[in-house]
Amino acid sequence: MLPRNGLSNLPMIDGQIVTIERFLLEKQPEDAKGDLTAILYDLALAGKIISAQTRRAGLLDLLGLAGKVNVQGENQRKLDLLADDVIIRLNDHTGRIGALVTEEQKEWVRIPKEYKKGSYILVYDPLDGSSNIDTNISIGTIFGIYRVVDKNKRGRLEDCLQPGRNLVAAGYILYGTSTMLVYSAGKGVHSFTLEPSLGEFLLSQESMRFPEKPAYYSFNHASGRYWTKEMNQYIDWLRNSYKHTLSHRYIGSMVADFHRNLIHGGVFGYPAEEKKPNGKIRLLYEAAPLAFLAEQAGGYASDGNQSILDIVPTDIHQRVPVFVGNKNLVKKVEEMISTKRK
Ligand code: AHG
Ligand code: MN
Ligand code: MN
Repeated sequence: MLPRNGLSNLPMIDGQIVTIERFLLEKQPEDAKGDLTAILYDLALAGKIISAQTRRAGLLDLLGLAGKVNVQGENQRKLDLLADDVIIRLNDHTGRIGALVTEEQKEWVRIPKEYKKGSYILVYDPLDGSSNIDTNISIGTIFGIYRVVDKNKRGRLEDCLQPGRNLVAAGYILYGTSTMLVYSAGKGVHSFTLEPSLGEFLLSQESMRFPEKPAYYSFNHASGRYWTKEMNQYIDWLRNSYKHTLSHRYIGSMVADFHRNLIHGGVFGYPAEEKKPNGKIRLLYEAAPLAFLAEQAGGYASDGNQSILDIVPTDIHQRVPVFVGNKNLVKKVEEMISTKRK
């Protein structure tokens, strides 16, 4: 062990500097070692690159629209495309990935024939909350990792259309006041903070759990008029049950809203709307990874009827109503809005 002299500025856990590489090597479940560990490390590198570009965006002409529209009909921003490109370039040639699904591309992404096929599927939202980019507000990258169904075949669409229950790992990189990587490989949720002068992610918190007492609820109130009566009654229930102890906070970057609620307790929701029966959030690369993390942190995620993790996607870009956070708050949504039992 290194002497502490001169190291007091570095975050240490029990006198140890725990880099993400060390944590992955020492703490990953045995069956997640090897390729999966390497993919997580590749994603950490992607996070460092995207973070560096995000922080310089105002200087490098990276703010604003790219002039393109993605498959969801949303304007793509320059940083959306840059982040997408970084993740593809870091993962297509490694022989670890069988196929990728990204918010920014209409079709699932095949691994070029010249590269070895891999046994994992990577699904991701390169930048979540990208409408916040131009105003210097937290954004993040969300990812999920599945095993391919048949290791002997090159990646296929059916490998990509798996329910969240099959995730072997998921996480996000949050570009906030600091850059953080939060992930789970099925044994708890762990967070790391990028130490900018070292360019290393260092362990911040092992085994994160939603605190029992929630502090926040995060819904876009402006859309309340498009929700069902039952949905609005749930919001009333939240306010009446927690009175002065539950505040409303809504960033408009689900990943950042989720992160705050994971640390302080709470619920994030993007309900169905009159003209958007499936809400806005994408199942495969937004809702399912965060649902996986939520369950690993003692929370829960639902579409109002069932666990997000049990929904089998039929389209890589399908949307789903989302409620995620403290278990009791999400179970209560189900109780109040579920159409199944009516
Ligand atoms: P993205 O930037 O990847 O398209 O996702 C934005 C999503 C989500 O992060 C956020 O919670 C939601 O859009 C905000 O939508 P509203 O502005 O309709 O509230
Ligand atoms: Mn998103
Ligand atoms: Mn996005």
